[in-house]
Amino acid sequence: DDLNDTSSKEANSRRESVTFKDIEKRDENTWYPEKNPDKLTKIIQKLFVFAFTWAFGGALNREDEPRENIPFCPSLESDSLAKVTYDFDKLVHELFGNSSQVGINLPTGECSIFGYFVDIEQCEFIPWSDLVPNDQTLIQRGTSLLTNLQRSGKNFLKITECGECINYTATRDTTCLSFLMSLLLKNSCPVLLTGESGVGKTAAINQMLEKIEGPGAFDIKHGSILGDTLLYSEIKKSSSLKQNITILIPETHKTATGSSDNPTKKPEVRTDKKLLKNNDHKGVVVSTINFSTNITAAKTKEMILKKLIRRTKDTLGAPKNNRILIFIDDMNMPVSDTYGAQPPLELIRQLLDLGGVYDTKKNTWKNIQDLSIVAACVPVVNDISPRLLKHFSMLVLPHPSQDILYTIFQVHLGMYFSINNFTPEVQKSKDQIISCSLAIYHQVRQNMLPTPTKCHYMFNLRDMFKLLLGLLQADRTVINSKEMAALLFVHEATRVFHDRLMDFTDKSLFYRLLSKELENYFQ
Ligand SMILES: Nc1ncnc2c1ncn2[C@@H]1O[C@H](COP(=O)(O)OP(=O)(O)O)[C@@H](O)[C@H]1O
Ligand SMILES: [Mg+2]
Repeated sequence: DDLNDTSSKEANSRRESVTFKDIEKRDENTWYPEKNPDKLTKIIQKLFVFAFTWAFGGALNREDEPRENIPFCPSLESDSLAKVTYDFDKLVHELFGNSSQVGINLPTGECSIFGYFVDIEQCEFIPWSDLVPNDQTLIQRGTSLLTNLQRSGKNFLKITECGECINYTATRDTTCLSFLMSLLLKNSCPVLLTGESGVGKTAAINQMLEKIEGPGAFDIKHGSILGDTLLYSEIKKSSSLKQNITILIPETHKTATGSSDNPTKKPEVRTDKKLLKNNDHKGVVVSTINFSTNITAAKTKEMILKKLIRRTKDTLGAPKNNRILIFIDDMNMPVSDTYGAQPPLELIRQLLDLGGVYDTKKNTWKNIQDLSIVAACVPVVNDISPRLLKHFSMLVLPHPSQDILYTIFQVHLGMYFSINNFTPEVQKSKDQIISCSLAIYHQVRQNMLPTPTKCHYMFNLRDMFKLLLGLLQADRTVINSKEMAALLFVHEATRVFHDRLMDFTDKSLFYRLLSKELENYFQ
């Protein structure tokens, strides 16, 4: 799309050349290929490697690589998953690397090829981790958020009780996948996100939809999902500028000037007209359908049509200047009928195949316009008909790596302990509690495997977050020493993991594991 536009660039700029200043501004805002036409092949090669990586590698069940090495975190999944990442990386290097015929300068850093995106302003590979906020910013952001809440009179304990207090934390993979999904959805390609149960698919898509919803959602501007990645170097420049300015401005001014003086906000006007040619500033209306085992085709149709309006006699579409984005959660859920078909899924297939549905009352065909679909399901691909699957671009969300879980725990526990003025001894034991939690989670996942009689032995991230929620209920007056902190942890871990175990052998194994980990970390 971008390349096609190079030719029409002149026409475009003529149309827009209201003032001389305008043209100047456009000039500095052009993408790399336009500024350096001689390097066109270079950028296309790099973009091809990126596209190849995600087109073929995106569907591989692989392991999220750790951002940095935390010594006591054992790798969560089996080695084979890490090997997939490594093998694919090797393949890409063999196909496109310096020693191959093509000879592209591939990144040589620590991460595999999955860890990089192409910055099309600079024609360079940049690690995704640069886009993910680091622990320190997370903690800072969390603390400021909480102090604001406290100032407004809300009690932190209350917030924890309603169970909504675990903030969503972007990881490298979710950042990357939401970028890819937005890009696909922007171009009206259906996307399917798969991954083991409880790795955060629903959470990741909801987070993305929250950002996308509203007018100008797919614009390439600062703060939008696409903009954050595509305008990477520009944002980086302005944020380093911002940092320099904040150092210069004394404390008192900072609060006074606040957001209005925020230099990162300034370039927001830049929305790339060329990329948005077809769907200029269209908004997005999101509608979510949770599939369950007993959902019917009629109900599915009703949910799809809910937010659509009549455009012409036989055409339905999104409200004016909008497009509809349908999120189908747990798409694998509907059970097959006696003939082996899944009616709700057949309806979706018809929608994607023919671009519409039948009005069953009047027996007429209705076209549906401006509709994109994003779906999530667990990887039981043979449950879904290939006729439907073929429409989707499939992406796999790997299990978050241990260091991300560590960060999430650290941010939340740290915040909770410091806001509620726990004793320094308890605050210090935070790291031990976290290491213990991760270790016991890892052990339970490895040792308590589901069998036909124990099919509920499915321990995933949800249990991990239940444990965290439990820890976040600590009372300052009771938890006042390291021993009490350890006891609290033991109690919560027992409730989350032990209470689901069925027989005596499993239970005693759990206690053995628990005491071993406690000894390891609490001495
Ligand atoms: N990055 C994250 N930050 C915070 N919580 C997360 C994150 N990823 C997953 N979770 C939590 O993990 C749990 C399971 O996620 P969910 O999206 O329901 O999994 P799935 O849909 O893949 O089965 C949810 O409680 C969710 O809030
Ligand atoms: Mg889900």
